[in-house]
Amino acid sequence: MEREIIRFGAEVLRQPCRPVTTITDATRRLVEELFASLRAAEGVGLAAPQIGVLEQVIVVDVSRQHPELPPRAWINPRIVSASGSQTGEEGCLSFPDLYSEVKRHAVVEVTGLDLDGQPVQLAVEGFHARVLQHEIDHLHGTLFIDHVSPLRRQLMRGALKKLKAEGEAWDRAHPGSALG
Ligand code: NI
Repeated sequence: MEREIIRFGAEVLRQPCRPVTTITDATRRLVEELFASLRAAEGVGLAAPQIGVLEQVIVVDVSRQHPELPPRAWINPRIVSASGSQTGEEGCLSFPDLYSEVKRHAVVEVTGLDLDGQPVQLAVEGFHARVLQHEIDHLHGTLFIDHVSPLRRQLMRGALKKLKAEGEAWDRAHPGSALG
């Protein structure tokens, strides 16, 4: 079932996530909800804190850009090496209609677990690498605007202020949500 995607300004998006120690039915349900929410929003990636769960779980679906890559859930993903750089337009489902240029590594090697608890290690590049860096950032409370230059951020100030007010209103309506 799809869940509401929480917007910038809510405290839960700034919290570090705990690693998953045992993959349970709750983990599988979380991944299903992440995929359902991602599809409904027509996005390319979503992290657990964006639906209010402070666990190290992300889903990535770049199959529209790269039909050879199946959608994938990562448990406890971690970047173990990175090289090169790429600059490109980036957005986030927690920042509707807001985009900015962000510099990322061109190639990253990511390790983690799949939903069966099997270790996965992948070297990815280009757009796929950008999406993985963005989603893994979410697990540490880091958002794409943190990578935006001060000048560009200044240009986004009005939109960010408006979003932040919405996120803060969400916090007031959901007390304790930052505990995930
Ligand atoms: Ni995001």
